[in-house]
Amino acid sequence: MSLSNDISGLFKWFGGRPEHYQEIPHNDLQYADQESSAHESAEVDVAGGDAQGVHAQKPVDDAETPVLKIKRSSTIVAPVVSSDASVWSSTGLQELLAERARREVSPSVEAEAPSAQSLLERVKVIAVVSAKGGVGKTTLSASLASAMQRAGRPVVALDLDPQNALQHHFKARVGVGSCSALGIAHAEQDWHVCGMPSDSGVFVLPYGDIDEVRRLDFEQQLSITPDWLAQRLAAMDLEEGAVVFIDTPPGPSIYLRQALSVANEAVVVSLADAASYTALPRIEGLIQAYTAGRKSFMGTTYLINQVDEARKLSRDITCILQELLGKKVLGLVHHDPSIGDALAYNRNILEHDPQSVASGDILDCSGALVTRIAAATAVCVQQYESR
Ligand SMILES: Nc1ncnc2c1ncn2[C@@H]1O[C@H](COP(=O)(O)OP(=O)(O)O)[C@@H](O)[C@H]1O
Ligand SMILES: [Mg+2]
Repeated sequence: MSLSNDISGLFKWFGGRPEHYQEIPHNDLQYADQESSAHESAEVDVAGGDAQGVHAQKPVDDAETPVLKIKRSSTIVAPVVSSDASVWSSTGLQELLAERARREVSPSVEAEAPSAQSLLERVKVIAVVSAKGGVGKTTLSASLASAMQRAGRPVVALDLDPQNALQHHFKARVGVGSCSALGIAHAEQDWHVCGMPSDSGVFVLPYGDIDEVRRLDFEQQLSITPDWLAQRLAAMDLEEGAVVFIDTPPGPSIYLRQALSVANEAVVVSLADAASYTALPRIEGLIQAYTAGRKSFMGTTYLINQVDEARKLSRDITCILQELLGKKVLGLVHHDPSIGDALAYNRNILEHDPQSVASGDILDCSGALVTRIAAATAVCVQQYESR
């Protein structure tokens, strides 16, 4: 049998592609062996004979001896091979080929690895969003943040809405001054300084009380610096396991775009009414546009707020949303007047009335979110480890 048939048979056996390799006569193999033992990490020409970067040195007494050439465009470094005889089995070869394929990750995957690692493995970012205003985003951002903090996570509640209302759902911790003059929209401040440690344990980052000129400047800065939020969050150097809730304004905005550029999860808040129902495709489109296949984005869940079981339409639309969205529904929060009462005392509902219906609902939603994050993190770690 010819050497050529042997080689193609071998490739067929282990599933490789013979056209990616060049056949070498025995003499050359012998030479290559000598070369690799002479140079511990011998580099070989991978782009063709006339390309630059031909590093395999030819013996001076045989200038015409061809060097090992492989049709690939990267420099190859000879691996250190174990003396274990099992590595020479067909299974060993397949493992080595699979290992090489894993290392040859695409540039886009490689570029995302650090952020996916830092954001998914260290910190979880939850963007609370909606197409419509007045559905309860700010209320639920504050309550979920508080519930998550009670579950033992370090939590940051970040207000990316010029309404600057999130801070009103928290009471500053005793001894901490008012932060109304501070906030994230002010010039480049340290977020540890412009935030407000709250009674609930949640660290609150208000938007800030700013005039129109400053707001326009700030929005301009956000539009020309797409990774502004990623940079600012990274600079906080949050501890492992921290969760960041981001409150956003309704509909498309530069704030929503920034929030979704770092979010691991989007929580869409919707009322069980016709207006919210018809607005859902709009927010789904925005999430799709602003997360655009980013691997660290785990997905979208839905929170149906202000459910009123005394009203048939509210019950019916809740059922329709549950049927349509299935497991994507994080939970329901019933209409509960104590939510409004809590705000009057700068508290969230869990602090103000832990026994209320809404408090029970919010704890259930927070539990579902924790489960979801844990499941997605496990998948992400598996994928990361198998690279
Ligand atoms: N489950 C609820 N039950 C009763 N009132 C609620 C509930 N959720 C929100 N609210 C009230 O709805 C209003 C709008 O809530 P808010 O959080 O400001 O909405 P958004 O941030 O989406 O504009 C507030 O007056 C709030 O107290
Ligand atoms: Mg709001």
